[in-house]
Amino acid sequence: MTLSDIERQIKACQECPLAKTRTNAVPGEGNFSADIVFLGEGPGKDEDLQGRPFVGAAGKFLTQMIKSIGLKREDVFITNIVKCRPPNNRDPEDDEVSVCTELYLWRQLELVNPILIATLGRHSMHRFLPKNFKISQIHGIPKKVTNKKTGKTFNILPLYHPAAALYNGALRETLENDFKKIPKIIEKLR
Ligand code: URA
Repeated sequence: MTLSDIERQIKACQECPLAKTRTNAVPGEGNFSADIVFLGEGPGKDEDLQGRPFVGAAGKFLTQMIKSIGLKREDVFITNIVKCRPPNNRDPEDDEVSVCTELYLWRQLELVNPILIATLGRHSMHRFLPKNFKISQIHGIPKKVTNKKTGKTFNILPLYHPAAALYNGALRETLENDFKKIPKIIEKLR
């Protein structure tokens, strides 16, 4: 099973109700052996229309921050917890998230096998850390976590979601500062 096989499966997926309302599934894209994976929540309107992750306003900001640390989008892997847009951008239901992560996300992460997973926003962070962890307290601090089901260990870096930071000056500065720490964190973990 390769990442391209998973991509094909995602594009044809009918395993949850989001399949009925999506325009395009959004498997993710980038370097299949990236050192870092950026993990968002789910596709928005632009992503649903184009079938690509982070291509709207938040995506442009993310791309800009990736460039600010000397990388290109093609150097990293970008994906989401759920691969199909929830209607009207509602939060995905728990069972939509668990089907999608079990079928696709954990396998994608296993195959890319990045040094670091930067979670974007609290929903993404809470796939790895319990609900009592607050993003306001642990953003920018790398954490080692073990997936209870697979036993696999990941290094995650909780970051604010670029959409939240886009129009909030203080959050924006915090996110930009956390981004600047990424190269050193990867170097240290390597
Ligand atoms: N927000 C996300 O969480 N993911 C995307 O792909 C786009 C916007």
